[in-house]
Amino acid sequence: MRKIIIAIDGYSACGKSSTAKRVAAALNYGYVDTGAMYRSVTLYFIEHYIDLTNPKSVSKALDNIEITFHHNESTGQNETFLNGLNVEAKIRDMEISQKVSEVAAIREVRLAMVKQQQKMGRSKGVVMDGRDIGSVVFPEAELKIFMNADFDVRAERRQKELFDKDQLVDLDVVKENLRKRDRIDTTREESPLIRPENSVEVDTTHMFLEEQVEHIVQLATTKMVDS
Ligand code: DC
Repeated sequence: MRKIIIAIDGYSACGKSSTAKRVAAALNYGYVDTGAMYRSVTLYFIEHYIDLTNPKSVSKALDNIEITFHHNESTGQNETFLNGLNVEAKIRDMEISQKVSEVAAIREVRLAMVKQQQKMGRSKGVVMDGRDIGSVVFPEAELKIFMNADFDVRAERRQKELFDKDQLVDLDVVKENLRKRDRIDTTREESPLIRPENSVEVDTTHMFLEEQVEHIVQLATTKMVDS
């Protein structure tokens, strides 16, 4: 069977990352969480007081950013490293979630991240999730998934995810954040979130994680035989 690229795009908190991670494990593929890359850039910009309105400062800062993923043997999870430091927990904080869509809308940031993502998927055998994977990063991906779920379900899932990481955040605050990110992600000028051409829509509102994974693994297996 040939190795393929699986692009998973969709709104925040509809289960993309959890699904993508498990699909990658089931197929013995690599997994790239591109949201983690935009989150890491946001963390760096906050910590270094980068002026987001100044393209020169932004470009200079981007030159100093190296993002890598490493597998943690004890947790079995991939973790995100920013310039050699493990930032996996930090980049999931609400402070980052509040700012990340603004940073991800900056042209220079997108160009730099897309370049790295294309390099990471060059040898195929990869599952990549984000907002522009099937439309911009790998428009030629053999399998493109567009994930969605009801807004309230997404908000409850995100609140639970934060709670599991010891962050107690009011549901209204989570909803407000999701609403704002949806708006920025879908209306920004630079590669907005769209349903990519030739993508398969997966609505996860009434699906269990295992069902989502199985469905996508099946679609992938068909493509791996066909392509
Ligand atoms: O998937 P996430 O919630 O971790 O993504 C964080 C933010 O990064 C999200 O608001 C939009 C942005 N993003 C993007 O613009 N393009 C991607 N490929 C991935 C994420």
